[in-house]
Amino acid sequence: MSDFDTTTHLLYLGAAICFVLGLHLMTSPATARRGNLLSAAGMTLAVVVTVAILWRDGSISSTGLAALVGGLAVGSGAGVVTAKRVAMTSMPELISLFNAAGGGAAALIALGDILNHGVLSAAARPVSTTLTMALDTLLGGLTLSGSLVAAGKLAGKLPGRPVSSRFNRPLNVLLGLLTLVLAGFVTAGAGGVTTLSLLGLVALALGVLVTLPIGGADMPVVISLLNACTGTAVAMAGFVLDSTPLIIAGALVGAAGTILTMLMAEAMNRSLFSVLAGGFGSGDSDPVALAGGGSYRTVEVDDAALQLAYASRVVIVPGYGLAAAQAQHEVVALAKALSEQGVDVSYGIHPVAGRMPGHMNVLLAEADAPYEQMQDLEEANAVFPTTDVVLVVGANDVTNPAARRPGNPVSGMPILDVDRARSVVVIKRSMGQGYAGVDNELYTEPVTAMLFGDAKQVLTRLVAALRTYV
Ligand code: TAP
Repeated sequence: MSDFDTTTHLLYLGAAICFVLGLHLMTSPATARRGNLLSAAGMTLAVVVTVAILWRDGSISSTGLAALVGGLAVGSGAGVVTAKRVAMTSMPELISLFNAAGGGAAALIALGDILNHGVLSAAARPVSTTLTMALDTLLGGLTLSGSLVAAGKLAGKLPGRPVSSRFNRPLNVLLGLLTLVLAGFVTAGAGGVTTLSLLGLVALALGVLVTLPIGGADMPVVISLLNACTGTAVAMAGFVLDSTPLIIAGALVGAAGTILTMLMAEAMNRSLFSVLAGGFGSGDSDPVALAGGGSYRTVEVDDAALQLAYASRVVIVPGYGLAAAQAQHEVVALAKALSEQGVDVSYGIHPVAGRMPGHMNVLLAEADAPYEQMQDLEEANAVFPTTDVVLVVGANDVTNPAARRPGNPVSGMPILDVDRARSVVVIKRSMGQGYAGVDNELYTEPVTAMLFGDAKQVLTRLVAALRTYV
């Protein structure tokens, strides 16, 4: 092995260490930013070393190099601009779009490779390569279209509810079988570009048909599953190109995504099979109105402020509406004002509140909410029976008692048992439904009072009222 080869292997090892340490740092909001930077540094190192190897081997022309540098500049530029401009509330859509880009790029690598090598034949390529090509195209295509549908659902451009018909199940089974046959052909080295392209097209159709019928409370599980598929497709692309850093980076994303999928499924009290099978055309999950007709109580800002100020214990339950209103600083200001009055304040955080894993933790950390005040689902549920006031800020599905009964889209999902507290004040703009499209039975319960308005404005007025009256 030449000195150059030894150096590049060591640098790849350095990049892989950056990925692993970066992922480790991302396990806590306090160190996540450093984790991101470290992983990005690892990826930059891997790209630079790869270009150096291509240059040294003479396997890239100056036109190819110019295209590579140009592509890097356009891709990185677009990434930086989008990431800087994106509103916090649109972050989940952006992540889904990044997933789609990763899956699509991985599938194109297999196609590019086969075009580069001319005829795909078992004699020309070992089975280990043709098999990974087939898996790369299948998973990459499925993730590309599935993630685009998920992004559309999250952005409200496609219906968030499950969309399916009675033809879904047979069609999915048919397409599933077709992918197996085509993948078999590709692995056996038969068919060439046409078979691989056909496999990619069927995978694209399958991605749309599998994701469209999933909706409501099951979306978080699907998004993390698509993330795991992106990583696995990228690892397969690494095998096709014989690129160690691509295999490592893809395997890490695939493994992290799989762990997240299992945690999400557990948090939602769902088996992965039931999520996917539910989406395979059961067609029984149309929007459900459960208690929309019931009467409800309202409360004014001044009364709510007094109720909060004279409470011994207050638990704040944030949800997607907090993110939509960008009211994280206001809610932390309210918590601080209450703590100064001697009130025991904490935040009850549901694992799927918001639109992405850890959404509420990230928002609250941005506003410097003390970590020790953040309680997970089990911790919060343990204190609700001894809580004087629960202040629900823009959370809906994660507090819906309908989840305790079968037969609706949130059934079985563990919820924050806010209705077990002595009183509940809900800040939201209307009696409108949450992401799952179900009326919230909490709003018509005797312990609950609705405080209507935009979360940011209402919280600002609550802090002002606290300062005035107490
Ligand atoms: P949701 O059930 O989506 O409810 C959010 C509520 O916020 C809405 O009912 C809305 O009511 C209110 N709202 C919106 N803008 C507001 C504003 N400016 N000020 C005040 N309120 C506002 O949220 P959740 O309880 O956090 O539950 C999350 C849901 O999203 C679950 O169904 C979950 O499965 C799903 N989901 C989660 C994820 C992840 S990974 N977290 C990913 C995809 C889907 P008004 O319109 O009446 O104001």
